[in-house]
Amino acid sequence: MTARPRILSGMQPSGRLHLGNYVGALANWVRLQETHACFYMVADWHAVSTNYAETDRIKLYTREMLIDWLAAGLDPARSTIFIQSKVPEHAVLHLLLSMIVPVPWLERNPTYKEQQEQLANRDMTTYGFLGYPVLQSADILLYRADEVPVGQDQLPHLELTREIARRFNHVYRGVFPEPKALLTEAPKLPGTDGRKMSKSYNNAIFLSDPEPTVREKLRTMVTDPARKRRSDPGNPEVCPVFDLHKIFSPTSTIERINVECRTAAIGCLDCKALVADAIVDRFKPIWEKRAALAADPASIDRVVREGTEHAQSVARETLASVNDAMHL
Ligand code: TRP
Ligand code: SF4
Repeated sequence: MTARPRILSGMQPSGRLHLGNYVGALANWVRLQETHACFYMVADWHAVSTNYAETDRIKLYTREMLIDWLAAGLDPARSTIFIQSKVPEHAVLHLLLSMIVPVPWLERNPTYKEQQEQLANRDMTTYGFLGYPVLQSADILLYRADEVPVGQDQLPHLELTREIARRFNHVYRGVFPEPKALLTEAPKLPGTDGRKMSKSYNNAIFLSDPEPTVREKLRTMVTDPARKRRSDPGNPEVCPVFDLHKIFSPTSTIERINVECRTAAIGCLDCKALVADAIVDRFKPIWEKRAALAADPASIDRVVREGTEHAQSVARETLASVNDAMHL
C-alpha cells in the first residue's frame, strides 16, 4: 500500500466562519480526509501579524474555529488538528528560513502589496507582516506536505514556498519536497447584499448563527433589482438568491425556480423561504454537533492536545534534518 499524499492547510482565526468559508474551504478539507493524510492548523500567529494591536479575540476565535471544524466533519481520528502557536517549531523553522530568503522576494509578493492597501488603516510595515509568507512556508515545509489545498488568493504564497524549498535544498543540500497547490474550485457564494460573502462586508451568514437568524438574513437578502413588484417577472441569472439555490437546493427546486421566477409564478419571499429550507437542512447536523461540542469543552481540549502532540513529533523530525543539513 502506498502512503497517502500528505496535505497541510491552515486558516487564520480572525473571525467566525461563515457559509462562504464552509463552501470555499472547509467542505473541501472534509472531503480530502478520504484520500489524504491531513494536517489542519489554526494559524493564530498569522492572525497576530495582521491584527497585532488587537490580539484579545484570537483565543476566542481559535476556540470557535475548532468547534466549527469539528462540527463540519473534520475528524480527529483521521486528521491532525492543531494550533500553530502550540508547536513552537514553526517559529524556529521560520527563523532559519528567514536567513536565506531575499527581502525583494517578499516585497514583490502581490498579496503583500494588496493587503498593505486593504489594511491601510493599520501600520502594516512590520517585519512580521513582511515575513508572513515565510511563516506560511515554515508551516508547510515543517510537515513536508506534498500538497496544500488553498484558494486562488494563496497561490503567490505557495509559489514562494516552492522557491524557498528550492533555495534551501540548493544551499544546504536539504530535502524539502516542493509542495504543490491543490486549488479549491469554489462556487461563488454571495452574501446577503449580493457581493461576495465576507465578514468585513457585514453580509455573512455564520456557521454559528442560530436558525432564526439564518432565516431572517435570507428573508431580507437582495434579489434581482429589476423585480420590484410581485407581478414583475424576474431574471434568476442576475439574482444572488438563485446562486444560493444552485449551491444548496435540490435540482428539482432549481429547475422550478428557473422557470417560475421568469414568469412571476413564484414570488421572491417564497423563493427565499425555499433556499432557507435547503440551507437549514444542510446545516442542521452541523449546528447540532456544534451545540454538543460547545457543551463538552474537555473533548475539544483533548483533540487539540493529541493533534498538537502528533504535529510536534513530525515537526521535530523535520527540524532535526534541517539542523543537520545546516550543520547546527
Ligand atoms: N495564509 C492562509 C490564509 O490566510 C492561512 C495559512 C497559514 C495557511 N499557514 C498556512 C494556508 C499554511 C495553507 C498552508 O488563508
Ligand atoms: Fe431571485 Fe427567486 Fe426572486 Fe427570482 S424569485 S428574483 S430567483 S429571489
